[in-house]
Amino acid sequence: MRNIVILISGGGSNMAAIVKTAKRDNWQAHYGAKVAAVISNRADAAGLMLARQQGIATQVLEHGSYSSREAFDAALAMEIDQHDQPGQPALLVLAGFMRILTPAFVARYGGRLLNIHPSLLPAFPGLHTHQKALQAGCRFAGATVHQVTADLDQGLILAQALVPILPGDDPHQLAARVLTQEHLIYPRAIAAWLENQGAEA
Ligand code: GAR
Repeated sequence: MRNIVILISGGGSNMAAIVKTAKRDNWQAHYGAKVAAVISNRADAAGLMLARQQGIATQVLEHGSYSSREAFDAALAMEIDQHDQPGQPALLVLAGFMRILTPAFVARYGGRLLNIHPSLLPAFPGLHTHQKALQAGCRFAGATVHQVTADLDQGLILAQALVPILPGDDPHQLAARVLTQEHLIYPRAIAAWLENQGAEA
């Protein structure tokens, strides 16, 4: 069994889309994979409730309770590693997890650490992506699923989706349009990753 651990900080709509698709498409039977846990760095993340409603184990590790970024990442790694299975280390999925990870953490999960970013990378890494796309006068925006490396939002691109920017859009409207596409491409990219892992095993 390949366990999937999802990290969130907020609404958790991508997490919910992944959980829904995993059930609908029976990832357990097809890939021997299941969403085993949802971990948040914020106790008030709305996604925690969504996860619990789906019967998924949740854990809160508030980053403010740790003395350093390294200490937080080490505690996080201990939680995640509990979901490793013999010969099947957990797949780690960042879904609106708003923390910069230390290089040591990223190295530990190299190749099995995925993220979704609400822009067409390599354009607009970091924060305030929608505002930046509007200010730049872009006609299109989108989202990118990528492997996480030590360089922020720079890892190998696994999937992208495109949406139009419409006259009069504000960052909020654009974010909502992009989010609907995130919910489609992230579960699909994870399924593809699981499929490829199966082929390599
Ligand atoms: C999503 O738009 C995701 O792409 C973005 O946060 C939102 C989380 O929504 N992530 C980042 O900006 C990461 N740098 P959700 O909690 O409803 O899935």
